[in-house]
Amino acid sequence: MEKYLLKIRKKVDKSIRKILKKHKSIKEIDEMLEYSVLLGGKRIRPSIMYILAEIYKKDYKMIENEAVAIELIHAYSLVHDDLPCMDNDEYRRGSLTVHKKFGEANAVLIGDALLTLAFSVLAESEYSNKNSIIALSYYSGHKGMILGQYLDILNVENDDISLRELFEIHLNKTAMLLMATVEIASISLSLNNEVRNALRKFILYLGIAYQIQDDILEYESDFEKIGKKNTDLNNDKSTFPKILGLEESKKYLEKFTSIAKEIVAGNQMLIDFADYLLYREY
Ligand code: IPE
Ligand code: IPE
Ligand code: MG
Ligand code: MG
Repeated sequence: MEKYLLKIRKKVDKSIRKILKKHKSIKEIDEMLEYSVLLGGKRIRPSIMYILAEIYKKDYKMIENEAVAIELIHAYSLVHDDLPCMDNDEYRRGSLTVHKKFGEANAVLIGDALLTLAFSVLAESEYSNKNSIIALSYYSGHKGMILGQYLDILNVENDDISLRELFEIHLNKTAMLLMATVEIASISLSLNNEVRNALRKFILYLGIAYQIQDDILEYESDFEKIGKKNTDLNNDKSTFPKILGLEESKKYLEKFTSIAKEIVAGNQMLIDFADYLLYREY
């Protein structure tokens, strides 16, 4: 699985380069766009699309633009997430965050540019339709990822947060963009309703597990591996490890991963992918 994912990463990087070339602006802006989106990144969301294309024996071309669109949204979310008014982070993917490198105003603008471009890229695909665009807007918007980011910030230093609220944050800020990934791929690949419903359930559990793992890694891994540093502010966030402790968080991580795997039982590639995420070190 790891080798396969590396291959996808290369493909996605190539597609992103192609799209940025097609949508060139002035040199200074192009340079910042490249910095924010081409300097590493595991390409987890695009990988899900490529894996689905592989499983259902469809041409990769059917999700090429779609994968770029989702990654542009993801990159924008990280650029804004790192801003001083949000998580105030100095490093991302082992390099300075966009605002540290180019200044805050530019980071806001580059985030805006990535977000705006994503919709054009999706609309340019002959395999996407109106519903793909609605799904991307819905899941990354104020009833999805933005809601999650709002709740995430709202609950800084809230030690009394309930388990339900904790899940609500994780579901929205992280699982919703993964949900968009599955929805958009399902449309472009013309997957049937039964498959779509299973994938939706699968990705909700896997998405929450992904964020729990991300937060566990901030405690257990190091900068060389994850390329980011745990700031004081992030230490006050309502994460699973902070609220429940590492041991309990790992139980949730394992439980959610195993539920996700049960949902797609018999589908070895998705099971391997879930395991890859569970055992990842960055
Ligand atoms: C980090 O996302 C933020 C989360 C939602 C957990 P990724 O772990 O996908 O970050 P990159 O793209 O690989 O850097
Ligand atoms: C990132 O969550 C979620 C989004 C950007 C929507 P975090 O703030 O927990 O992720 P990192 O640790 O900065 O990657
Ligand atoms: Mg955050
Ligand atoms: Mg953050």
